[in-house]
Amino acid sequence: MLDPNIQRLIDSIGQADSLETLEAHKVALLGKTGLLTGALKSLRELEGEGRRVQGERINALKNQALSAFSERGTFLEAKALSARLAKEWQDMTLPSFSQPQGKLHPLNNAMEEILAIFGQMGFDLAEGPHIEDDYYNFSALNILEIHPSRQLMDTFYLPAERDGRTLLLRTHTSGVQIRSLASQNPPVRIVSTGRVFRSDYDQTHTPNFHQIEVMVIEPGIHMGHLKGLIKEFFERFFELQDVAMRFRPNHFPFTEPSAEVDIQALRSEGKVTLGEGDDWLEVLGCGMIHPKVLENCGVDSNKYQGFAIGMGIERLAMLKYGITDLRSFYESDLRWLSHFGFSSLQAASCGPRVTA
Ligand code: DAH
Repeated sequence: MLDPNIQRLIDSIGQADSLETLEAHKVALLGKTGLLTGALKSLRELEGEGRRVQGERINALKNQALSAFSERGTFLEAKALSARLAKEWQDMTLPSFSQPQGKLHPLNNAMEEILAIFGQMGFDLAEGPHIEDDYYNFSALNILEIHPSRQLMDTFYLPAERDGRTLLLRTHTSGVQIRSLASQNPPVRIVSTGRVFRSDYDQTHTPNFHQIEVMVIEPGIHMGHLKGLIKEFFERFFELQDVAMRFRPNHFPFTEPSAEVDIQALRSEGKVTLGEGDDWLEVLGCGMIHPKVLENCGVDSNKYQGFAIGMGIERLAMLKYGITDLRSFYESDLRWLSHFGFSSLQAASCGPRVTA
């Protein structure tokens, strides 16, 4: 005799109202101690014709149960899915949230462009601290006590150190020259960009601004190399074909001879166009490194010569990007930044110069 509960359970599969109930039915019929499993096991106690007939009945019931489970399972899964879809419904017609994108500040972009150009020309990156020792900022550069840039008016001094050292906020990047020579022997080619500080504020001066310093020391280096390098740099940075420059004699304590360099420019209706016209714009200071500076750094000035260049990055960025007010760099006006800023794809795209 077969347990009548088997047929009852099979008949109720179609009414299982959840996948969990269905699973419970499956265990009750086909699990290890399930009714159908038990019935199959008890076949062992029968013999001959009786065993064959009983076996066929049980198998028929098992097949009936399996197809009922499969049918009900498919139905319940579809039902669960549509319930989930109804619950997780999203309104695709809602407007999307805008994702504000940051941009690279034009000064940072200019510095990256400049470093990329000098990097391609074989220069190493050098760095120096913002808080500088009087020695690196002034003395080693042959800037005497009486030089105006030493006066309190220009320099932000820090309270005196216990060991007698004078610390200050660096007034230019030229101290990096001395720091580089303290850590490596010539020949050297270094470039450095960064912040400098002076106690000055008006339409063309801010207490914090940025400079780039370039230094080359090799045997036999002369003004011709200096001129060639500056021309190459201008042409790459300003994307000009053949730029006219003017070297004006000047004085810097750390170079001899010293020069200021102007670039050809056209001024009209408040706009400046480089490489045209008959006006000149001052862009940098430079010169052959003073033998005293080389000697201060333990470099034999009979064996090695060198030149150095210093430029203000704000000036270069203003000229290249058409920015007219120096102070706007520091105002953090988001409208200005999104107009003059650079997205990461545009940034520092100064590759090798392509001449048509
Ligand atoms: N340090 C100078 C300044 O801040 C700029 C300068 C001039 C740097 C001539 C140089 C140089 O390396 O050779 O005004």
